[in-house]
Amino acid sequence: MQQLPTLTPCRRNVRLHKSADEAVQETNDDAALSKASAVRRGYLDDAFITKFMKKDARRPPIINRGTFVRTHAIDVLVEQFHETCRSQDAHAQIVSLGAGFDTRYFNLKKRGRSFKTYVEVDLSEIVERKMAVIQQHSELTDIIGERQDVDSGLRGNDYVLMKGDLRHWKTVAEALSHILDFDSPILFLSECVLIYLNTHDSDTIVDWISQHCLHAAFVLYEQILPDDPFGQVMIDNLRQRHIELKSIWTYPTLQSQIDRFMSREWSKAFALTISEIHDRVLTPEIRTRISRLELFDEVEEWTLLGNHYCVCWATKGRMDDMKGLQVHRKRGQKEDIVPFTLWPQSDGASVKLGSPERK
Ligand SMILES: C[S@@+](CC[C@H](N)C(=O)[O-])C[C@H]1O[C@@H](n2cnc3c(N)ncnc32)[C@H](O)[C@@H]1O
Repeated sequence: MQQLPTLTPCRRNVRLHKSADEAVQETNDDAALSKASAVRRGYLDDAFITKFMKKDARRPPIINRGTFVRTHAIDVLVEQFHETCRSQDAHAQIVSLGAGFDTRYFNLKKRGRSFKTYVEVDLSEIVERKMAVIQQHSELTDIIGERQDVDSGLRGNDYVLMKGDLRHWKTVAEALSHILDFDSPILFLSECVLIYLNTHDSDTIVDWISQHCLHAAFVLYEQILPDDPFGQVMIDNLRQRHIELKSIWTYPTLQSQIDRFMSREWSKAFALTISEIHDRVLTPEIRTRISRLELFDEVEEWTLLGNHYCVCWATKGRMDDMKGLQVHRKRGQKEDIVPFTLWPQSDGASVKLGSPERK
């Protein structure tokens, strides 16, 4: 089988008879490894991710670039959510679904951001491993402040690390109901997570959020385009590792990702591929900076890879004030920033990348 790069790498020593749950948990180690590699190479600034790594992190340039673009885009949207809450005198709440070893909470706190609550949910084994690492590092425990270890995970003043299986949403939702304030804005993050659930389970989660949260944002990152040759190889490579992208068949395109939210009465939803974010959203200064970090000659593979991953974001209620990712467009010598809802093509036609505001 052809080996194409994926943002989740192929492993050579795959254990036979691994359970699907073990395989999906390993994707967390891959995500952490990729982030640590991007930090090591100077793409990302993250003081905490290496604490979760046992080995030296090195990934190829194409993966480092992909990890940077994804993380940068999500960081921008999270900062916008926080800023929108602040401008409305509202308390920010974030729920990271399948958070794994993500260190965004610690980095945001280090940058002075405050939250009413930041909740991270993942499977028991991952939460226990994350708790063990947190307990070993005073840089992490200091940020959490006063904390309690409880059966369900760890609780701080504004931080909850919670064991929960997203396939049993009723139980997770019951726990969240005791933590969240549904009158205040809530941002839900799914960074390469919902796609591992079957469509019924992932839809149950989005349905619940749509029904319970008046002022909400959802930021999602996952694979798309399973049917073209690159997509088929991507699916096959992951299958070899016992990983199924279960809901990719229901949400295979940018438009279907947008529809997933618009059909549930969210007022705005947008989606862009990682390639589009790289080419149109990153400022020329950022693109130049990352292009100088290491030799990069995988140009064709990069476009293919970037076309198969997307960032989708949706808002409702007071969170409709979020600007979203903005597109940079060159006009003569000037660089404009425009909303990308309608992106003019060279033939003058417009391609619809996002949904206009629902009236
Ligand atoms: C690719 S990793 C991403 C981790 C993190 N969001 C990030 O981007 O660094 C996928 C994560 O989803 C979690 N996950 C998958 N299925 C889950 C489920 N049914 N319930 C809770 N977490 C799940 C995995 O354990 C893993 O930590």
